[in-house]
Amino acid sequence: MTARSLAVVSAGLSQPSSTRLLADQLAAATRDELVRRGHEVRVHVVELRDHAHDVVNHLLTGFPSAALRAPLDAVAGADGVIAVSPIFSASYSGLFKSFFDVLEPAALAGTPVLVGATGGTARHSLALEHALRPLFSYLRAVVVPTGVYAASEDWSGDAADGALRERVLRAGAELAEQVDRRPASTGPADPFALTTDFARLLGDRED
Ligand SMILES: Cc1cc2nc3c(=O)[nH]c(=O)nc-3n(C[C@H](O)[C@H](O)[C@H](O)COP(=O)(O)O)c2cc1C
Repeated sequence: MTARSLAVVSAGLSQPSSTRLLADQLAAATRDELVRRGHEVRVHVVELRDHAHDVVNHLLTGFPSAALRAPLDAVAGADGVIAVSPIFSASYSGLFKSFFDVLEPAALAGTPVLVGATGGTARHSLALEHALRPLFSYLRAVVVPTGVYAASEDWSGDAADGALRERVLRAGAELAEQVDRRPASTGPADPFALTTDFARLLGDRED
């Protein structure tokens, strides 16, 4: 049995939050499929509402607070990421975008990512394709084909058990497949790590 880590980023602001509910369902579907494939799974949930002030301070100062370091490292070091935003003004929320703005630019390169969103209207479901997917493509993540959008109407009655559930399971299976086929992450890259052998650095000196 090998260990895999999932980072789940939820940018919902309400309490309780439909964005968090969708994020939890996607995490459960992914975890179940990874367990079925023989992995032990660690899930780290990043509730962005709790880090909103620290994210803005990072934007203003250029440095993360100690409290923000843990969620940033969890995302940068994860084997797979689930990223879910509420739709605000037909796009991802500002808090969601700001968190990924303060993440090291190469942190998600090659990392499988599942995108999800919640909204008041189903008419804005394509925000997944014109906003979230391009953001993660730019960050050189591997975005799985199925993104999951849940409008208010999707949470009631048959829809929640039928169409939405089906999409959640399909997306979770796609993310698990991508995580399964890669070696486990060695953790977040150290930005201060020496890229040249130290002995060679000294040997090359003239004095
Ligand atoms: C400022 C603001 C703008 C919003 N804009 C949209 C929108 O353009 N399209 C949409 O479908 N829903 C919109 N909504 C509704 C939210 O996306 C929806 O209520 C979301 O599911 C809330 O997530 P939460 O329960 O996790 O906080 C907006 C809500 C707010 C507060």
